[in-house]
Amino acid sequence: MFTLAHLSDIHLSPMPRARRRELMSKRMLGYVNWHRGRKYVHRREILDMITRDIVEQKPDHIAVTGDLVNLGLPEEFLRAAEWLHHLGPPSKVTAIPGNHDAYVTLHPEAGTRHWRPYMEANAAGERLFPTPPARFPFVRRFGDVALIALSSAIPTMPFIAAGKIGTAQRALLANALDRLKQANLFRVVLIHHPPLRAQAGWHRGLRDAGRFARVLKQHGAELVLHGHNHAQTVHELETATGPAFVVGVPSASEAVEGRIPAARYNQYSIARNGDGWRVEMVGRSVAASPEHVWESERRVLRER
Ligand SMILES: [Fe+2]
Ligand SMILES: [Fe+2]
Repeated sequence: MFTLAHLSDIHLSPMPRARRRELMSKRMLGYVNWHRGRKYVHRREILDMITRDIVEQKPDHIAVTGDLVNLGLPEEFLRAAEWLHHLGPPSKVTAIPGNHDAYVTLHPEAGTRHWRPYMEANAAGERLFPTPPARFPFVRRFGDVALIALSSAIPTMPFIAAGKIGTAQRALLANALDRLKQANLFRVVLIHHPPLRAQAGWHRGLRDAGRFARVLKQHGAELVLHGHNHAQTVHELETATGPAFVVGVPSASEAVEGRIPAARYNQYSIARNGDGWRVEMVGRSVAASPEHVWESERRVLRER
């Protein structure tokens, strides 16, 4: 059995002080938004409780599906790298970027470069599917389970939080899914944006959701994990190789007071069962007064 924890939308706080020239962009609006309200929503203490709980649960692996930072300030990327180290070593943690991690395009190398050890294939995955020059998708393999990590992060205009996978990445994904199926592995697709068209509108959704879902339907996947909507959702998608469960997780730092959903992460237990797979999902959430993490849901997604 393999256990995989999934968390997303870290929106790491507190916000570092920004220099004026760093705010000459889309960041200005984001900075104002943050200090007006978002800083009360995404709290460091909440994230620390979730982080501690995951570490204590000792999953075999941890997947982080983007929005680690808020405005893409250089200092934010460094702090997020420290947080990743806290969660575990790169061999135990896989991360992908979200729209907030591509907030501005000033220095493409300055940002997610600090997270690179967490954003690359492992040796077993590389043998199955060599990473393309654009670095996504990359594959990590752990025994019977393979993670296919995508980037839907694109820089956009202010107030637009949309994402896109693009033609090249979709073609590579199709190829990776086929190869991993031939190897008879459990395929987990990691993507920041919700992959189904109805899940988000034009301003904040995946621009090529329709075409992306078609790739999933034609080539199959067993589990698709995403964030971005800051909500717990489960969809079942019929594919050529059987059902794919598409699961979104709430933000890992969202404060509890008066707001639903609270911070949560999900832990999956994946085991071969005959010709198929048994998958159980356990949700662990932050509860209010006294704030603590508890098992808020336990659900078998599939028996075979
Ligand atoms: Fe987010
Ligand atoms: Fe997002």
